[in-house]
Amino acid sequence: MTLDKKHSINNILEENRLFPPSKEFSDKSNIKSFEELQSLKKQSLENPTKFWESFANSEIDWFEPFQTVLDRENAPFFKWFKEGKLNITYNCLDRHIKNGIGNKTALVWEGEPGDNKKYTYQELLKEVCKASNALKSLGIKKGDLVCIYMPMIPEAMVAMLACARIGAPHSVVFGGFSSESLKDRLIDGNARFVITADGGFRKDKVIELKKAVDAAIESGANKIVEKVIVVQRTKKDISMVNNRDFWWHELLKDQKDWCEPEIMNSEDRLFVLYTSGSTGKPKGVVHTTAGYNLWSHLTFKWIFDIKDDDVYWCTADVGWITGHSYIVYGPLSNGATTLMFEGVPRASNLGAFWEIIQKYKVTIFYTAPTAIRSFMKSGREIPDQYDLRSLRLLGTVGEPINPEAWMWYREVIGDNKCPIVDTWWQTETGGVMISPLPGAVATKPGSATFSLPGIEVEVVDKNGEKVVENEGGYLVVKKPWPGMMRTIHENSQRYLESYWEYISFKGEKNVYFAGDGARIDNDGYIWIMGRVDDVISVSGHRLGTMEIESALVSHKSVAEAAVVGRKDDLKGEAIVAFVSLEKDINSFPEIVEELKKHVVNEIGIIAKPEKIIISDSLPKTRSGKIMRRILRSLAEGEKISGDISTLEDSSVLEKLKEIS
Ligand code: PRX
Repeated sequence: MTLDKKHSINNILEENRLFPPSKEFSDKSNIKSFEELQSLKKQSLENPTKFWESFANSEIDWFEPFQTVLDRENAPFFKWFKEGKLNITYNCLDRHIKNGIGNKTALVWEGEPGDNKKYTYQELLKEVCKASNALKSLGIKKGDLVCIYMPMIPEAMVAMLACARIGAPHSVVFGGFSSESLKDRLIDGNARFVITADGGFRKDKVIELKKAVDAAIESGANKIVEKVIVVQRTKKDISMVNNRDFWWHELLKDQKDWCEPEIMNSEDRLFVLYTSGSTGKPKGVVHTTAGYNLWSHLTFKWIFDIKDDDVYWCTADVGWITGHSYIVYGPLSNGATTLMFEGVPRASNLGAFWEIIQKYKVTIFYTAPTAIRSFMKSGREIPDQYDLRSLRLLGTVGEPINPEAWMWYREVIGDNKCPIVDTWWQTETGGVMISPLPGAVATKPGSATFSLPGIEVEVVDKNGEKVVENEGGYLVVKKPWPGMMRTIHENSQRYLESYWEYISFKGEKNVYFAGDGARIDNDGYIWIMGRVDDVISVSGHRLGTMEIESALVSHKSVAEAAVVGRKDDLKGEAIVAFVSLEKDINSFPEIVEELKKHVVNEIGIIAKPEKIIISDSLPKTRSGKIMRRILRSLAEGEKISGDISTLEDSSVLEKLKEIS
């Protein structure tokens, strides 16, 4: 892990344009000025205990109060709000009904074929209660991990909330992952129950989810999975196994529409969500109840400056952390109206997003830079056909946004009036960590600006020394925060090594290393420079290069594989794989297609390599380590720079130059 040329400061554009929010916007905001924000930050740094205690009390409803704000005894296995008892679904549903907004729309849902539904808070609570009772009727109880493998339909949200209501942690697996990936996650999490659907619609095709569940069970998860609940979405034929598979609608039909929320301890697990790291196996990030509830709630409130009449839309999938925190828990905990869309813009409907904004008068729109870049590519003529005047605030998440895309977003979608919140965070952080507050911060295109109140970040070198202004370094978080991950499922050692022990600090302990590089400019603005480990971001999807390499070498013809990311104008990064084949395999063109397909089967479509380069051997050091730096330069089409004297056989490099 190094801060190599890819991340060097010279590659980052000098950007000095400044966009303060309009006075009109600031005047109506919850946090109206930079001074107000600074004062909140000051309070959070001077007396963190008081700061978190007061927000935990004012924003969260407790069944029993907490006594200890933060328990550091077993740091970095921190415990927040220890003695407290609560249920996140009470905060997301029941309390709004008690507070008189039961008839407000909680969820607006639009399916890809154009079907749609709305749920008020009252209706959503009833549905969640029915589903909770249905889960209980199958024997699911507090503490059982339930895997959710669903398309973007309301039942996905209902299933998550039903699990949380009965205290069964969920493990949502993105519907785009293959049966192999699903199997690994089922086994790692020991998930005895799966909630899925017959399928879902995506880009005018049917995604056969139940078939993938069957395949995952048949290929190894059979000893674990006991029961599968299936939502009927596409109505296509699927096979149902007696006493193992149950239709959701049949199970829910006769259930009571009230289910008492389970009394949860603050530190009881709320969910496990798998994400990629720099080793071959995805890690199950564990989040617990109270801290996550508070952080997703508070960040949503601050960053989206939410108002009673807002219609808020986040285009992520509930299979990712963005969907967890900012489609489900954050918006519902705040009593907001959250919109969910099953589809994505597709060749047959490039204006799909804008049509939805127009139809539902969306006021806050939160999407990924990759999506914005693809809209730019298809031209402003498309959004210009729609009425987007309802929009008042825009957001981005998941990858660095280039200033050009930022400006296009501001001008074309935001009509030069909507502030843009570029939000930096991770699966591990539970909620946003660095972002402008829209009424308080003047934004610079491409910068996530400043850390939020309560969050202290720094940019340091490998020894933990703070780097000087404008110098690139490692992004670290210096104080614990409530929404932080608690551990990696069944692998606390990996939790320690990946996040807390990588950078050796002098004197200071328990500093969280995020895996990203960053720099801070003269005005204190933070510029995220991308991952500094072997993790790449393809269309905002986080993938470990070793994960893809493991998939490649699991093919019988592959002897060795090395995967690197190459800069891509649209996707941020594209996957390039260097592969050497087993001796008796000839390098014929079909093998490249076969290997691409193999990776899709092993991981999912998001991991499909853009390019596979077949080579007799890979460049290695004398001690046998693959020199990825060289492969990265080859993939980028750059001149090989730096020391190559450790290369074992320089003729490999010459050959690779010819074929890359
Ligand atoms: O590299 C950072 C990038 O996405 C990583 C986290 O990925 P994941 O856990 O899948 O969560 C994505 C959604 C929160 C980070 O380590 N990243 C996320 N947001 C930004 C970003 N990079 C630059 N700017 C951002 N706003």
